[in-house]
Amino acid sequence: MGHFTVVDHPLIQHKLSIIRNKDTGTKDFRECISEIAMLVCYEATKELPLTEVEVETPICTAKCKVLKGKKFAIVPILRAGLGMVDGVLSLVPSAKVGHIGLYRDPVTLEAVKYYCKMPPDIQDRDVFVLDPMLATGVSASSAIEMIKEYKPRSIKMMNIIAAQEGVDRILTDHPDVDIFCAALDEKLNDHAYIVPGLGDAGDRIFGTK
Ligand code: URA
Repeated sequence: MGHFTVVDHPLIQHKLSIIRNKDTGTKDFRECISEIAMLVCYEATKELPLTEVEVETPICTAKCKVLKGKKFAIVPILRAGLGMVDGVLSLVPSAKVGHIGLYRDPVTLEAVKYYCKMPPDIQDRDVFVLDPMLATGVSASSAIEMIKEYKPRSIKMMNIIAAQEGVDRILTDHPDVDIFCAALDEKLNDHAYIVPGLGDAGDRIFGTK
């Protein structure tokens, strides 16, 4: 079974209060989403393997540590996942970026892929899937299934706000996937919006409402 982690650092909680506020404008919303994504990424990368190197300081030789050749890809789920890309890239600047877009077929209710472009060497990479809101988890689970077809080394999921239903869906469908988020909210409403949540993350990031 994968692990579920809520990163509840005070800086994250402060920024969450800003993005939850309906009066926060697009610029501040975008900035806070990006900063929270960066802080969640900081926690999600805390067990990366290190290797020892020798560094000449101005004083002497020091034994230091550097990341042990980890290769990453981040995959935002379109479109709201795009809001998390900059924040994550600020910590893992050499990551490649894949994209996946899904819509729900109104008849079959199944997730249908309308866009998918992955880095060609994704088999050698650890993937972070980005989606600010993990609500029912249906589309995120389908996205992970589709990404798995490309056989990445591993997959982790990063969200800003999750609902228990979505967490359970991912951990059940994908027991090999760990989830990191900034908050676990109370419930979903009848329209599958997270309560209290922050509304439609895509609309708030892109100013489309
Ligand atoms: N997607 C959103 O943007 N907001 C929610 O609350 C749930 C899904």
